[in-house]
Amino acid sequence: MQKVILDTDPGIDDTMAIAYALCHPDIELMGLTTVFGNVNIEKATRNAQYVLHMLGASNVKVAKGAAVPIVQDPMPHAEFVHGEDGIGNCFDTSITYDPSAAHTTLHAQDAADYIIEQAKRHPGEITLIAVGPLTNIAIALQREPKLPDLVQQLIIMGGTVTEPGNVSPVTEANFLGDPHAADQVLGAAWPATIVGLDVTHQILITDTHLKQLDDNAAKTGALIWQTSRFYVDFYSSKGAASNEREPACAMHDAAAVAYLLVPDAFGVISGPARVIHDGVAVGQLALDRKGYDYGLAFWRDRPDCHACMQVDDTRVLKHFVDTIVNHRLC
Ligand code: BDR
Ligand code: CA
Repeated sequence: MQKVILDTDPGIDDTMAIAYALCHPDIELMGLTTVFGNVNIEKATRNAQYVLHMLGASNVKVAKGAAVPIVQDPMPHAEFVHGEDGIGNCFDTSITYDPSAAHTTLHAQDAADYIIEQAKRHPGEITLIAVGPLTNIAIALQREPKLPDLVQQLIIMGGTVTEPGNVSPVTEANFLGDPHAADQVLGAAWPATIVGLDVTHQILITDTHLKQLDDNAAKTGALIWQTSRFYVDFYSSKGAASNEREPACAMHDAAAVAYLLVPDAFGVISGPARVIHDGVAVGQLALDRKGYDYGLAFWRDRPDCHACMQVDDTRVLKHFVDTIVNHRLC
């Protein structure tokens, strides 16, 4: 059983990632930590609680995290991608759940302290999966520089090595959300793997997959189907899934969970990495793919990290759908 803390800004594909991690029998989802990003921190935290409630897992703790980046001014949120409420305009205010009830209460600690405390309590056992801006992880690292030694691995949905960006020609949204944090995090010596647009743009979940979930995965499938309507429309309007013959969307954040569960479906490269934090390429991931001594001292103090470059998308999509259908909680 793999202990997981999922750092998230829910988010429609975040909702898919939460469901995936929650349902898989090899994962013990210890908690969600929330961060600004797709929506503001209040909505992200409310959505995390709501999604857990809707998936039958109100017992999973939520620790509220950062509201703004560590250095740069906040970017606009992405309601145009994820809906005004962040979950495809499916937040149902008529559903009676009490976020202040004991079983759904927010963790008393903030996200960074929660991550540190859990990592110390279970040294070497926790996989951190970060699918929003890396602010909470950077803050945790600042508070506890030994954090990389205390966790098993860090999996990051963010950045792109060669695939075009999704918010600028060279930049992916999570890294642009807090580029200073991303650069600090990639400078620490964890086993860290980037699941970026190089692979997530290849994992297009179609309406056929999503309908399969709606038809066969009860309330969990219905939540994924309903929340995905807005996201699929966005992707379709951008022609972003144009290599498909039917409506589809990229399931970015769920791909980071897939990397934990089926790592051999991915091909990776390794090298030291930086994230550009100002100028025209702000947010760009720069990964040294040559790996030779340039004769100068650039980046020699940076640890290698891994970046996924290939993926067996058919296998990942099947694994995601099968996991939800066969192991949903409700
Ligand atoms: C990432 O940005 C957000 O919109 C998604 O939730 C995902 O984490 C993709 O670039
Ligand atoms: Ca996200």
